[in-house]
Amino acid sequence: MRQPAGKLLLFGATGDLSQRMLLPSLYGLHADGLLPEGLTITGTARSDYDDAGFRAFAREALDHFVPADRKDDSAVGSFLERLFYQRLDASKTEGFAALAEKLGDISNGLAIFLSTAPSLFGPTIKGLESAGLTGANVRIGLEKPLGVDLASSRIVNDIVAEAFPEDRTFRIDHYLGKETVQNILALRFGNSLFEPVWNAQGIDHVQITVSETVGLEGRAGYYDDVGALRDMVQNHMLQLLALIAMEPPARFDGTSIRDEKVKVLRSLRPVAGVDVPNLTVTGQYGGGAVKGEIVRSYDTDLEKPSDTETFVAIKAHVDNWRWHGVPFYLRTGKRLAERRSEIVIQFKPVPHSIFADRGGALQPNILVIRLQPEEYIQLRVMAKQPGLDREGIRLKEVPLNLSLEHEFAGTRRRIAYERLFLDLIEGDPTLFVRRDEVEAQWEWIDAIREGWKAGGVKPRPYASGSWGPSAAIALTERDGVTWNE
Ligand code: BG6
Repeated sequence: MRQPAGKLLLFGATGDLSQRMLLPSLYGLHADGLLPEGLTITGTARSDYDDAGFRAFAREALDHFVPADRKDDSAVGSFLERLFYQRLDASKTEGFAALAEKLGDISNGLAIFLSTAPSLFGPTIKGLESAGLTGANVRIGLEKPLGVDLASSRIVNDIVAEAFPEDRTFRIDHYLGKETVQNILALRFGNSLFEPVWNAQGIDHVQITVSETVGLEGRAGYYDDVGALRDMVQNHMLQLLALIAMEPPARFDGTSIRDEKVKVLRSLRPVAGVDVPNLTVTGQYGGGAVKGEIVRSYDTDLEKPSDTETFVAIKAHVDNWRWHGVPFYLRTGKRLAERRSEIVIQFKPVPHSIFADRGGALQPNILVIRLQPEEYIQLRVMAKQPGLDREGIRLKEVPLNLSLEHEFAGTRRRIAYERLFLDLIEGDPTLFVRRDEVEAQWEWIDAIREGWKAGGVKPRPYASGSWGPSAAIALTERDGVTWNE
């Protein structure tokens, strides 16, 4: 059993992520008695707070971002008592000694969570080293972006590796903290039903959609430099793909699971060179209406013209025996028709239909794993419609539904970061991304970006509130495949 850390140090403690997710998650764990007793949380950032000021800041964040039914005055009060604050300009080494002094005795272990601009990673690691905050009982959690391409991610990883060996480095992909994402493992490896058909013999194609209705959300500076491919596909969507496509791991642990994921990521067929324009579609949202609300175009939001893609669709392949010839269609975008994250597995049709001569039409089976906003698993199967069939057999596709919300009603759905914080504090790396995975992800993404550049690919406009540019529909229709909408 690993020793839980006795202290938590939060870089970027006054940032947007901290307000919306990190502080509410830590509060959620605290309120349920899941944080180690005596664990203190020291926030640090450039903002000029003292302990009391940071506690007031945190109280406000909880007021805004914790649902009313979870707020409890006494739990909020005792949570705030865990919080401390040290002002720090992380770009300068000098301030780190005072930070170490503020933290005091870390002999019971320290977990650090770094949620800052990438440019501060290097100086922060240096500062931590200079202040003796990188010892064997210190582990570090890193929030993205970890670089903008393979080369820069290697630089970041090298800097971190100088102070923290891989087993003390926890790279965060918050999708892995989502309950429904972990459920992919339960579905695939906790049931004997699926595995025999989970391959090119049984599966026609896979679709992964992560659609959002939100636009820039005040993150213009970050987003415009990054775009949908690097913001969503490089990390979250490739992790989903890896979980769907990986071989059964021998054990539920960080080494076994990550070994299998990285094999998939390395087996991705490069989407490169002249193929890029045929296998990818990019788009940028124009004005329109999302859920009845009029919204502005991306460049109006941004207040300048831009070539950044807010939508991307890709046809991918995993080149190994299991997935030979099975396309994986990925798409993600902002300001789309609905907020939805789902994986759709379409199975092969039956080899021979005994119903055809009797007028019965068959649809192939489909498995839908809906990750959000609803959480369910649905298997669409064929059934006979009741009737005497004098005019032919009538068959209908009907859903076998497993609603996780319903089945596990009464179990609280946690913010992904709650799980990840606890794992970081306790030192369990299973749901964090290993360096070799990140690098395999970047390698695949970089080739696509090079292809866009070489081919002069520019994002096509699409109306806000739609499902993206029509070329994204053509991408699958060419193969006789329709997006699940
Ligand atoms: C983040 C991206 O990693 O994930 C955001 O930077 C995106 O642009 C977010 O909105 C989506 O996460 P979720 O959990 O809301 O699906």
